[in-house]
Amino acid sequence: MKSSLVGGPAPVTSTAVVPTLFGVTARLSSRLAAVVDALPLTPASRVLEVGCGPGAASRAVAQRLETGFVLAIDRSAAAIAQARAGSKAEIASGRMGVRCVAVESFVLEPGEPGFDIVFAVRVGALDGRHPAAGHQAMQRLLAALAPGGRVFIDGGDPLQELSLDS
Ligand SMILES: C[S@@+](CC[C@H](N)C(=O)[O-])C[C@H]1O[C@@H](n2cnc3c(N)ncnc32)[C@H](O)[C@@H]1O
Repeated sequence: MKSSLVGGPAPVTSTAVVPTLFGVTARLSSRLAAVVDALPLTPASRVLEVGCGPGAASRAVAQRLETGFVLAIDRSAAAIAQARAGSKAEIASGRMGVRCVAVESFVLEPGEPGFDIVFAVRVGALDGRHPAAGHQAMQRLLAALAPGGRVFIDGGDPLQELSLDS
C-alpha cells in the first residue's frame, strides 16, 4: 500500500553532512525512497526501523509524520553515531529517535508505547540469512508491536510483510 499523506507541518530539513558507512550512503537512495513510499504510514504512525545504518530511511519517514515517531535502531555504534549526526533536525522535532541496540535484544523502555510499523532493509537477522537470530528478533519485535502492528522487510516489491502467526 502506498502512503498518501497530504499537507501536515512544514517538512523537517537536515543540513548535516555525514560520510558513507560500510558503503551505505547517508543520502536517501531511490531504493530506500521506494521502501519508504511503500510503508503504510499515517501522520500518527509509530515506526521502528531495524538496522537503520546512517538513518536515511528513518529521516524520510520522520519527514512524513506529524504526531508520529520513528525510532531508528542499529547494533553498530558507528551507524547510530552517523544517524544521530545526520538527523539533528528530525530528532529535535520530536519525530525521530535513535538507539544503539541489536534487534535480538530490543525491548521497549518503561512507558514506551508499542510500534505500529516495523521495517528492516538488508538486515540479516530478519531476512532469513541467520535463522537463530531471526527467531530471537521476531520474539522481540512481537513484544514491541502495538495491537495490529505490522512488520515489513525487503525482498518484495519492494517490501514484503512478515506473517505474525505463531
Ligand atoms: C547492509 S546495512 C543496511 C542499512 C540500511 N537499512 C540500508 O538498507 O541502507 C545493515 C545494517 O543493519 C545493521 N544490523 C545488522 N544486524 C543487526 C541486528 N541484528 N540488529 C540491529 N542492527 C543490525 C548493521 O549494523 C548495518 O548498519
